[in-house]
Amino acid sequence: MSRLNLTRLRQMKAEQNKIAMLTAYDASFSHVLEQAGIDVILIGDSLGMVIQGQESTLPVTVDDIIYHCRNVVRGSNAVFVIADMPFMSYANAEQAVSNAARLMAEGGAQMVKLEGGAVMASTVELLTARGIPVCAHLGLLPQSVHRVGGYRVQGRDAETAEQLVQDAIALQKAGADMVVLECVPAALAAKVTNTLTIPVIGIGAGSECDGQVLVLYDMIGLTPGKRPRFSHDFLADTGAIQSAIAKYVVDVKAGQFPTIEHQY
Ligand code: KIV
Repeated sequence: MSRLNLTRLRQMKAEQNKIAMLTAYDASFSHVLEQAGIDVILIGDSLGMVIQGQESTLPVTVDDIIYHCRNVVRGSNAVFVIADMPFMSYANAEQAVSNAARLMAEGGAQMVKLEGGAVMASTVELLTARGIPVCAHLGLLPQSVHRVGGYRVQGRDAETAEQLVQDAIALQKAGADMVVLECVPAALAAKVTNTLTIPVIGIGAGSECDGQVLVLYDMIGLTPGKRPRFSHDFLADTGAIQSAIAKYVVDVKAGQFPTIEHQY
């Protein structure tokens, strides 16, 4: 079976057919997610926190992502696979190209994701010109947690909201094929979604995005501590992991997740 591709993901946006995405880090969950109808799996650097027990995503290495990406690829046949570029693995052009190439060639990813606004446009241009599809991550950027001083909703005022729209446009122009928008007001996410022609996937960004992503362990209630407002414990609703994932897919596709209580 061949995997979902970017052409189909763009079509899904055009048809207003919502894209259901989750993180995963191993073959067993990858299989369960695929069986439940997930379209896209992200091997997120969130693995630093939920798998390795680190305080942030910063210690995650390219080798870590490659290891988990290979396992996810082995567990599935049809989902589209995105690998995160870890902190500082794309700090300059040379690093960006060689690390992205490793994630694709050794990890088996179909796309890489990197954090940052218009400042990353030249990197996106460089990668896409070499045949590496890029997903740009905007809004709350977990790799910048120490600079920003915590995990906070972004784009709340007119100036930062406009900056985010301009960043998104610049990244699409540079060749990005997808955007992940984390923790921004729902109205701003709707504006970005309607402005761009590429799919916009939200996490804490309201229901108007072209699709949704959550950290797998958050949505099955395994993450210790307080669950983020934008997440939901689907396992508590259903009582079994397979049905929890299936309910997430159904709710995302029907526009029933997220609801108003999950948005800013
Ligand atoms: O690392 C990750 O899991 C992510 C999601 C939160 C989008 O980037």
